[in-house]
Amino acid sequence: MGFFLEFLWRQLFVWLPTPNYDFSGQTVIITGSNTGLGREAARHIVRLGAAKVILAVRTPAKGEAAAAEILESTKKTSSIIEVWELNLSSSASVKAFAKRAQGLARLDAVILNAGILTTQFALVEGEESSIVVNVVHNTLLALSLLPKLRESAAKTGLRGRIAFVGSDLQYLAKFAEGETPGNTFDVLRVEEKADMDDRYKVSKLLLACAVRAISAESPVSDKSNVIITYLTPGACKSDLFRDPMGGFQALALAIGKTIIGRSTEVGSRTLVNAVRPNQDVKVHGQFLMDGKVASAGPKINSPEGKKLEEKFHKELYDKLEQLSPGVTKI
Ligand SMILES: NC(=O)c1ccc[n+]([C@@H]2O[C@H](COP(=O)([O-])OP(=O)(O)OC[C@H]3O[C@@H](n4cnc5c(N)ncnc54)[C@H](OP(=O)(O)O)[C@@H]3O)[C@@H](O)[C@H]2O)c1
Ligand SMILES: *[C@@H]1O[C@H](CO)[C@@H](O)[C@H](O)[C@H]1NC(C)=O
Repeated sequence: MGFFLEFLWRQLFVWLPTPNYDFSGQTVIITGSNTGLGREAARHIVRLGAAKVILAVRTPAKGEAAAAEILESTKKTSSIIEVWELNLSSSASVKAFAKRAQGLARLDAVILNAGILTTQFALVEGEESSIVVNVVHNTLLALSLLPKLRESAAKTGLRGRIAFVGSDLQYLAKFAEGETPGNTFDVLRVEEKADMDDRYKVSKLLLACAVRAISAESPVSDKSNVIITYLTPGACKSDLFRDPMGGFQALALAIGKTIIGRSTEVGSRTLVNAVRPNQDVKVHGQFLMDGKVASAGPKINSPEGKKLEEKFHKELYDKLEQLSPGVTKI
């Protein structure tokens, strides 16, 4: 079956059970959890008995509103949810957030869910915005939190989990810019050459490369009892598509999602599943789809993919070292 038929099959017929894992006693961070998939994942984890759920959001007022609404629907006490400011457009905010997390008594799981889809080219801290938010600062946050997860796992004896929310659209990235020689970041920050209809897919492809590199460097061991994965929630009805988009693409997306899109609640089950307390070590470094290991995709499982992965690994780590010296040497 081709990508599209497989996709349709999953959207229409795959049934994802309501999560029923036991999170009692655990502390979980979820980024971008004021709305969409992040908020629904937070609701599940609060319901499943977590001791502390941290909503990492860029606008605290929106986080507080989500917290009140989640507490109302789950009938839990307000001390369970904390709202912490995290602006993934700002490396300073990411570093301040990670520093604050050092003070936690424990940290069991992190869902790196916040992300953007935009067809408007804009520079943020010198790079195109989707590359900064979805890839650079997202991985900066993960690497900055990893020591805390390791320390916590060693103390509690429970394995830590990090799940990045990617997308199966990475399979469809054309990434024509990647054929231009030179540093990937240099190429992607040139507005005249940017294919913005492809950019979101490229950001999720590069995120996949990054997660594979990070997990390969941090195998599950006594030193690092933390499972790292990335996942796709499938096509869900959220506000992700809030930016104006080109005519046909926008129309096709709107019609398609109305018919086959999952609710954010159903999609969020894949996020909760990825960080479940009894997650299998075998999934470390893998791409999860509907709770199962899926192909990394043609762009990665090819000789060129291997080269891209190695090249981007180095470029990203150089960049992360500039942003936060020592962060990759863990
Ligand atoms: N929906 C789908 O069909 C689909 C499919 C595949 C993958 N995904 C992925 O799923 C994840 C969640 O998407 P969603 O559908 O739930 O979208 P959404 O409703 O747009 O939620 C995105 C969340 O990310 C936050 N965010 C965006 N930029 C941020 C920044 N610079 N700093 C901090 N937070 C930021 C948003 O905060 P604000 O509310 O303040 O903007 C919001 O909380 C994304 O990574 C997306 O790529 C979604
Ligand atoms: C997030 O950080 C960016 C870059 O520093 C800044 O332009 C933006 O105003 C910040 N957004 C919020 C909501 O703080």
